[in-house]
Amino acid sequence: MSEIGGARTLITGAASGFGRLFAVRVAREGGHLVLLDRDAAGLEEAAASCRGYGVRVFPYVVDLSSRDEIFRTAERIKAEAGAVDILVNNAGVVTGTSFREAPVEKIEATFAVNTLAHFWLVKAFLEEMIARNRGHIVTISSAAGIIGVRRLADYCASKFAVFGFTEALRMEFKKEGLRIKTTIVAPYYAKTGMFEGVKTRVPWMLPLLEPEYVVARIFKAIKKNRPLVVLPPVVRSVWFFRLLGVRVLDAMADVLGVHTSMDTFVGRRTS
Ligand SMILES: NC(=O)c1ccc[n+]([C@@H]2O[C@H](COP(=O)([O-])OP(=O)(O)OC[C@H]3O[C@@H](n4cnc5c(N)ncnc54)[C@H](OP(=O)(O)O)[C@@H]3O)[C@@H](O)[C@H]2O)c1
Repeated sequence: MSEIGGARTLITGAASGFGRLFAVRVAREGGHLVLLDRDAAGLEEAAASCRGYGVRVFPYVVDLSSRDEIFRTAERIKAEAGAVDILVNNAGVVTGTSFREAPVEKIEATFAVNTLAHFWLVKAFLEEMIARNRGHIVTISSAAGIIGVRRLADYCASKFAVFGFTEALRMEFKKEGLRIKTTIVAPYYAKTGMFEGVKTRVPWMLPLLEPEYVVARIFKAIKKNRPLVVLPPVVRSVWFFRLLGVRVLDAMADVLGVHTSMDTFVGRRTS
């Protein structure tokens, strides 16, 4: 969607990290905002920063792992804020252990937030987008939605899932001749705190990304209606190495330290 200024953008996980930075970027452009997160204090801070740019901001405290809460909140949003033009499904959580060690509650929460919440929010706002034949759905997947990584099994599965979901949506919209755009974003690790402690073995090729860089690329991708953003772009080589067979893919990932990257993970110390 080329015109973000003047449009209404809904961002999940807006209290922190990419979501918060992206909200401020949209506000700077003159875009109105609907911000969702479970962290009330962080959400209010994000909303205040955005209001500083003179735009309308509607913050909602919501637990995105609850389908009922999502649908209830969506009804409030439609009544209070109006139609959503750009939906950014960004909120995410990570367990960060081997699958054997992962508590079932954390696995379920990962799927509820990283995957199912995307389905429910698209369900909630898609009909209105279709009626107006206008909209943009942005999915924050991950490089871990392109390649399976040790100690990220549930996370990778949730991110592969939303990658496929959004690709399928794109094809449905195309077939039906709808002017609803989609963008999948697949970044490598970034310095937001979510993946605190991870290490990268070849930083000149696979650096830990600056959140501002990621957000700038998401913003540009929406403006230019790009369906896919992989960051850094070299991560796209995974698809090439897959063609050469699993042994080559595994060897490449080992050389780049992909499967040891999570060994030093601590994550957010508060969670
Ligand atoms: N950072 C990276 O390296 C990286 C790389 C690739 C992809 N991503 C993806 O990018 C997205 C944003 O990541 P980030 O690094 O910006 O993360 P972040 O700083 O942790 O922000 C995520 C936000 O989502 C909120 N959230 C989590 N569970 C929620 C729930 N059940 N209901 C409502 N809000 C909830 C978090 O609240 P709490 O603080 O209370 O948890 C937090 O405010 C995620 O989907 C992540 O998987 C991140």
